[in-house]
Amino acid sequence: MHIDILSAVPRLLDSWFEESILKRAQSKGLVEIEVHDLRIWSTDKHKRLDDYPFGGGAGMVMSVVPIHRAITELRAKRTVDEVIYMSPDGELLSQGLANSLSLKGNLIILCGHYKGVDERVREHLITREVSIGDYVLSGGELAAAVLSDAVIRLLPGVLGDETSALSDSFQDGLLAPPDYTRPADYQGWTVPEVLLSGHQARIEAWRAEQAQERTRQRRPGLLGRSDETGA
Ligand code: ADE
Repeated sequence: MHIDILSAVPRLLDSWFEESILKRAQSKGLVEIEVHDLRIWSTDKHKRLDDYPFGGGAGMVMSVVPIHRAITELRAKRTVDEVIYMSPDGELLSQGLANSLSLKGNLIILCGHYKGVDERVREHLITREVSIGDYVLSGGELAAAVLSDAVIRLLPGVLGDETSALSDSFQDGLLAPPDYTRPADYQGWTVPEVLLSGHQARIEAWRAEQAQERTRQRRPGLLGRSDETGA
């Protein structure tokens, strides 16, 4: 998979992709991430990316010109499956959406700034808008990092144990059951007996029951939803 991220402040994303699992995924060749400074494509002599909105009003708007030039250049290099604009107006990010994006080959992610983008970007260049929640961030970079992380950890080989992404919360539409590790008794705080029993069928049944119960208590809205695992 190849992910191109277009940003007005690329520095914000540097450390995110240079650490831990995401770094390992890149060095193993499982994903290539390129964070591009949109100013490269600015035609303005001061390399500005924004301008005043037609009709007046507060705030600046990201211009269509550098964004169009950037996306055209990247599209000429590879077949792009989705051009995603991170925006609070977008489709809410879910595990199902992360799953479906993890099956794609090449993604472009555009981070918004200022008041937003010229509407023609959304009409003509963007194939999908994604929000990470019903709140407004000061830029799309954090949202792009969240989306990339959720997608990349699903790529085969990225997590050491192949089953661990499958047992994440949400992967079957339920929250994950509790986990414990040694010591089995820490100052009287004990581990459920069943987990020490060695009886795998009983353990699986207990985990399934715990996942149901935890979901019922904490996120009852997830129960009975069928859209969590596919998009
Ligand atoms: N940009 C600003 N706020 C955002 C949000 N909630 N999700 C995605 N992109 C954003």
